[in-house]
Amino acid sequence: MTHLLYGFPHPDLASPELDASQTSPLVPGAMRLPEIAADSAASLLMLAPAGSVERLHDMALALMALAPGAPFTIMAPMDRGGSRLARELAAFGCVVSDEARRHHRICTGERPATLTGIEAAVAAGNLQPVDAIFAFSQPGLFSWDRLDPGTELLIETLSAEKMRGLKGAGADFGCGWGGLSRAVLESPHVVSLTGIDVDGRACEAARINVDDPRFTAAWRDLRASGPDLTGLDFVVMNPPFHATSLEDRGLGQAFIEQAGLSLRKGGRLWLVANVHLPYERALDASFARWELVEDDGAYKVIEAVK
Ligand SMILES: C[S@@+](CC[C@H](N)C(=O)[O-])C[C@H]1O[C@@H](n2cnc3c(N)ncnc32)[C@H](O)[C@@H]1O
Repeated sequence: MTHLLYGFPHPDLASPELDASQTSPLVPGAMRLPEIAADSAASLLMLAPAGSVERLHDMALALMALAPGAPFTIMAPMDRGGSRLARELAAFGCVVSDEARRHHRICTGERPATLTGIEAAVAAGNLQPVDAIFAFSQPGLFSWDRLDPGTELLIETLSAEKMRGLKGAGADFGCGWGGLSRAVLESPHVVSLTGIDVDGRACEAARINVDDPRFTAAWRDLRASGPDLTGLDFVVMNPPFHATSLEDRGLGQAFIEQAGLSLRKGGRLWLVANVHLPYERALDASFARWELVEDDGAYKVIEAVK
């Protein structure tokens, strides 16, 4: 029987079974919770996500996957859903003991024979059509139900005149649900576009939303290995700047470095970022030249040439 692990709980708080299978959608290659047979898993250790709809959805799926009577430990930082965990699990029909440690709440219990309220939690957090963006999306994805204003500024900048500069083979680093990729493919000169995201749910949504044979989505961590994409003509990106909710400028800088490695000489990077984010040094290190193309006070668009 499979032991389930979700995320990376701090080792001082709990240790996963040695052979536990990772189920977080943020770990490329992880088992997908909706695909695990109901009532089948031996145990669960979960660091639950912060967003409440996402957390309820993933806890519901994980509990369904557990065999009745199987033990679970579910935790979350106090200020990121932890204070609500015990109540949420009780509403699913679980009897839990609730402990506070290292700014976390840790709930332990056993999967009850009968779960309650599971279907509603799963339906609310599933991939779903979102009219406002004419796309399928899912709670937990970046800007899941609206086009991010930074992305919008980049799309506007790339459109019209400059869209003509987008040609050949390209990539969208951190493609999310695919709004930017969809706009890039409006250029008839683009021959292929690879959307890369560390979130498997984003890749799944992008595959549906970017309905174009030139598009492929890859579930990959751009920091984990050297690029398997090289010689690209262009890269577009709205790089992430939160890692586990703490601002992590290094993540955006790593995206820029990967773009430099993936582009051919003369290839172009189009990047949008919050104006205060310091990407200039990373751009200097990987690109021959770059210029600020737009600045609306909140976001800046940069074009860099390798
Ligand atoms: C700011 S969002 C942009 C999403 C989308 N391109 C848009 O404009 O709405 C950054 C994206 O990068 C993804 N991401 C974060 N860390 C990553 C990593 N290490 N490797 C690949 N993608 C990552 C996130 O899942 C998220 O979808």
